[in-house]
Amino acid sequence: MFAAAPLPNTSPSELYSELHDQASALFEGERDFTANAANLAALIFNALPDLNWTGFYWLKEGELVLGPFQGKPACVRIALGKGVCGTAAQERRTVIVRDVHEFPGHIACDSASNSEIVIPLLDGNRVIGVLDLDSPEFDRFTPQDARGLEALAALFLKATDLGG
Ligand code: SME
Repeated sequence: MFAAAPLPNTSPSELYSELHDQASALFEGERDFTANAANLAALIFNALPDLNWTGFYWLKEGELVLGPFQGKPACVRIALGKGVCGTAAQERRTVIVRDVHEFPGHIACDSASNSEIVIPLLDGNRVIGVLDLDSPEFDRFTPQDARGLEALAALFLKATDLGG
């Protein structure tokens, strides 16, 4: 029912609109933090093309700690300000990296990754964690992906009881 592979002629805006609807349906009647995060990671990973990793890190006691994800096992702890994830969390902004090999301090969890996007999850001004997507393609992520993923992150935060 959910997360069917995208049709070849689906535009990014149609894809994100569809994903938004599917995420809303998945969160309907469910506010559990882990359940909703796990389902959102799986939804994105299976619906967007050319990904090798999608998942969450939560900010706990000043460092990012691995949360629900899809893909190969990953680094568990990332210091604030380190790597793409730590940078997005510290600077409270979405970071798009066209070539991770050129990003100073990039943390290579999966050698297949060549580009990356990280969206900070904010509760007001407080950083809850980040949503991280990796791709084996160079220059995979566009500002349109940033907008679509930021909208999905906002939907998750609204639909979920934080801190579970
Ligand atoms: N590459 C990330 C680390 C997390 S993995 O990609 C899953 C970074 O530099 O923060």
